Amino acid sequence: MTKFSQESMKSLQITISIQLLSLEELSAEDKKLVETAKQMTETSYSPYSHFQVGAALRLKDGQVFRGSNQENAAFPVGLCAERTAFFAASANAPGIPPVSLAIAAQTKGSFTASPIAPCGSCRQALLEAETRFSQPIRILLYGTDGVYVVSSVRDLLPLTFDGSQLA
Ligand code: THU
Repeated sequence: MTKFSQESMKSLQITISIQLLSLEELSAEDKKLVETAKQMTETSYSPYSHFQVGAALRLKDGQVFRGSNQENAAFPVGLCAERTAFFAASANAPGIPPVSLAIAAQTKGSFTASPIAPCGSCRQALLEAETRFSQPIRILLYGTDGVYVVSSVRDLLPLTFDGSQLA
């Protein structure tokens, strides 16, 4: 949950709170989503970065869409794991709100110790769904040291730019 507080005209405080859990402390449903994200690192196509990212997105109706990062010799053409999963869900199950996203990454044959957080472009893409469905997306960031549980995309992107500002 993001908290905004303004104590004076000159400063705005933005506080976010993230839960730090072990894999065992997650609910069975969340643990399964994280395990799926971990498995998806195996399908990464990352011959340039050798950084294999996996993502699993659960929708409100229980469907799970999976993704991994897909790179290209022309670097900007590649896509992150999160957006691969998210766009697959939006294309194949349109109109069903996403509720939870799990992310895991491997490099040099091991899962990262620290959780991997979505890049700025992925945060913006996920924010679109939160705004569109007026429903927070929980984000589970896996690392071997533990799992960060973030309660909404807005927590990762507190000062947002969304379609309402174009009106
Ligand atoms: N990557 C993701 O798939 N998700 C992230 O959140 C961070 C970065 C990918 C993009 C690229 O293929 C590789 O990791 C190195 O940046």
